[in-house]
Amino acid sequence: MNALAEIKSRFSNAIQQVSDDEPEQFLDMIRPAQDGRFGDYQVNCAMSLGKRLNKPTRDVAAELLELVKVDDFCADSEVAGPGFINLTLDDDWIKNRLTQALTRSNLGVDQAATPQTVVIDFSSPNVAKPMHVGHIRSTVIGDALARILRFAGHRVITDNHLGDWGTQFGMIIYGYKNFVNEAAFEASPIDELLRLYKQVRQIIDYHQAKNKTIPKLESDQAQLTKKLDELKSAEVPTEKSAAKKHRKEIGSLEKKLKEIDETLDGDQEKDPPIIGLHAKVASVEADPEQLELANKHATIGDMVLQETASLHAGDAENKSLWEKFLPICRQDIQKIYDRLDIQFDHEHGESFYHDMLGEVVQSLEQKEIARESEGATCVFLDGYDTPMIVRKKDGAFLYSTTDLATIKYRMDHWSPDVALYVVDHRQHEHFAKLFAVAEKWGYDKTDLRHISFGTILGRDGKPFKTREGDTVGLEGLLNTAVQKSFELVSDLDDKNPEGPQLDEPTRRSVAECVGLGALKYADLSQNRTSDYTFSYEKMVNLKGNTAPYLQYSYARVQGIYKKGNIDPQTIRENPQPFLFETEIERNLALQLIRFGEAIDEVMVDYKPNLLASYLYELTEMFHSFFNQCPVLTAETEELKASRLQLCELVASTIKTGLSLLGIGVVDRM
Ligand code: ARG
Repeated sequence: MNALAEIKSRFSNAIQQVSDDEPEQFLDMIRPAQDGRFGDYQVNCAMSLGKRLNKPTRDVAAELLELVKVDDFCADSEVAGPGFINLTLDDDWIKNRLTQALTRSNLGVDQAATPQTVVIDFSSPNVAKPMHVGHIRSTVIGDALARILRFAGHRVITDNHLGDWGTQFGMIIYGYKNFVNEAAFEASPIDELLRLYKQVRQIIDYHQAKNKTIPKLESDQAQLTKKLDELKSAEVPTEKSAAKKHRKEIGSLEKKLKEIDETLDGDQEKDPPIIGLHAKVASVEADPEQLELANKHATIGDMVLQETASLHAGDAENKSLWEKFLPICRQDIQKIYDRLDIQFDHEHGESFYHDMLGEVVQSLEQKEIARESEGATCVFLDGYDTPMIVRKKDGAFLYSTTDLATIKYRMDHWSPDVALYVVDHRQHEHFAKLFAVAEKWGYDKTDLRHISFGTILGRDGKPFKTREGDTVGLEGLLNTAVQKSFELVSDLDDKNPEGPQLDEPTRRSVAECVGLGALKYADLSQNRTSDYTFSYEKMVNLKGNTAPYLQYSYARVQGIYKKGNIDPQTIRENPQPFLFETEIERNLALQLIRFGEAIDEVMVDYKPNLLASYLYELTEMFHSFFNQCPVLTAETEELKASRLQLCELVASTIKTGLSLLGIGVVDRM
């Protein structure tokens, strides 16, 4: 057990002896000390316990400390201030843990005492369109969680819930039937399918903008302008708060109008510039060929829905087109998974559940969970204005119905204790309703969790888009990150005092590892629930909380080995005593043995960024150590051996930690 877990478990027992309250709530108040003067760990629960028990807090602290025996691993324990308990680990105990980390597998981190079965639903792109920046978060967060939970000893089942059955197939089926260029399809099926997808999308968007969005916005614009004019020409109220309200109203109208203007007419001044709907429509109309196509396919939106519906109804032609297209689309996505080193245990896409949907609705009806409403079948839930629709008026099933079938399937086949859905925050309501329905349906034993995440923003603070306003393709993103890393690696190598060490192919392969690592890490080091701004400069950088910084530190240790002609294997096989000659060494040691705590922390709320922060702090400490404690030229052989062991532990902790984030390391960079 790691130190924090050990302390918590012992205090949990003690708390139960002094109070009837659940100890859980107090255990969060046991933390690593922020300041070395207060020992290594602080137990701060005596204050709230004291209030609860109506006893002086210092007395409660003393009582707890009396009950808890820590002298087998703490050198010092004391009550301080109003009732803090400060614990200082025994150096020999730390050294013992270091040796275990050095010689045991998994860096000495224990396996979960009660392993759980955890299903992780992640990545799950809608195929038939290229993977874009929006897919990166689910893919890397889900993969990292899978790796971390497995490392901790849980039984993890990953499942890629591909969107392989939706309207996007209706789109390429319609596109194929109407616009295909056979020769192009022969030559490169995926490129032709993507062209078809874009073509159909463009015509749909054209009609949508021209006939729906623009007229609606223009009428809003006229109304708001009129209202604004009225307000502006009206007399400003003399009373202070009324005047303020008046100004506020004008301000808010102006803001709304500005947003509408921007949507309609764009903004060239912005970086990247915003292209307005008027210009988009005009660009189609300026191209006679496109205009003719658009006019010829004026009902395209409905037609696409019809193609989708007949695919679902088992229409032979559409089914065979779907069977032809799916592997082509899937293979395209595989290129990205291969590059990112992402694997799944299962890939039950939406189509997999199609035949089960009727039964799902039937079962919900039988159990009187769902009922008819305006022709549709719905589940009404407390606390929501709108029901969850499980079958539409026209008989079609929905995303929700498929998700219910998925829950049933996973329960029947895998009986998970936990099911994680790594999906962006916009689907919050979908999952809240889904889980509520699942509970009513009888699946109330499994912890169903939406692992929500924020949006990736561009420099303008809006969702990251290309200059043309399209979503950013993932492949291009990976290529750019790798190219920037190639420049970084080349520059670093060119500046090597001993002259460049890496040939071009080596630089390229190092850049692949560094670039993809940088991209993943930029995402994983953020609190998943926040939005973050995408920046190559920040992520592909040796300074700051970045993957290249951690990878560089790993390579530095390998550099020490090379210089000293040292085989790390021998370090592991012949453990020597650890020495804490300086405070830096003890601090570094303490951080090293806290790896298991970082893993525990990640699992509380499924936040990989806590592992990233841990690794970053470790690397910062390693740098102080590296700058102040000579390793190869240490004063004595014993000190050299101890320091080499610390280096080896730093390197393997960085390597293992990064691997849990799905990121590799390189020996030289
Ligand atoms: N394909 C969906 C989308 O792109 C995400 C699926 C998430 N998983 C699930 N079981 N609903 O929005």
